[in-house]
Amino acid sequence: MAGVNFPFVIGNWKMNLTPYESETVAKKIVAGLPPEGLPIEIGICPSYPAMERVQRVIAKTSITLGSQNMFWKEDGSYTGEVSVRMLKDMGCHYVIIGHSERRIHLRETDYEVNKKIRLALQYGLVPILCVGEKFEERQDGKRDVVIMEEVANALKGVDKFSQLIIAYEPVWVIGRGEAIEPNEACSAIGLIRYTLKDIYPQKTIDDKIKLLYGGSIDDKNITDFVDNEEINGVLVGGSSLKPEVYIGMINNLAKHVS
Ligand code: 13P
Repeated sequence: MAGVNFPFVIGNWKMNLTPYESETVAKKIVAGLPPEGLPIEIGICPSYPAMERVQRVIAKTSITLGSQNMFWKEDGSYTGEVSVRMLKDMGCHYVIIGHSERRIHLRETDYEVNKKIRLALQYGLVPILCVGEKFEERQDGKRDVVIMEEVANALKGVDKFSQLIIAYEPVWVIGRGEAIEPNEACSAIGLIRYTLKDIYPQKTIDDKIKLLYGGSIDDKNITDFVDNEEINGVLVGGSSLKPEVYIGMINNLAKHVS
């Protein structure tokens, strides 16, 4: 059962599994979770071609479907793109927007990120905005300015929403196998909250915006992060592809929060 203050565990499967493999992993995750609801919001973001199969597997569970991306126009001649209406039709609830891998490999800009967020919200999808600094930016002491600019640019003109998720993912920690210290994640997330204060009333931030950490989270370190009041959950890459690890993360967190 979904609850307003449950921590989030959202898996981003990236471009890793075929539809068949995705279905198999989803089935294992479903089979490994207790039948009764957990005090956790669980999401899975498979690739586009796998969405329908995964949705069928998770349909009667408390796991929610998300997308890894969407296009910033509603419809039209945009060969190869996937629209927000298509995602709604597939049963998506979340959509990851502005992941660093898209910013780096597909040159996605803050301008496009902003357009996508606005369109996602218009159609009732919950955006998961990803922000975070690259290693060189961190070395140059630019962590804070990168985070603040990415948040402010992404949210220009974004005023009506029932829920918005922002994930702090330091780019250099993604896939590294070793997370940053939880207090460092808290400081970055604190900075995001501080940036949001220039844009929204405190009540909107407290009630409607959830802040996640992402980067080398696994079943061993998840509780160290979600233990902190600042952090409302995690966005998980590699560990979400391994059913036993993903289930372990969720179960460890459930023991911790209940
Ligand atoms: P890893 O958990 O593999 O570091 O990936 C994090 C991520 O990019 C989630 O979006």
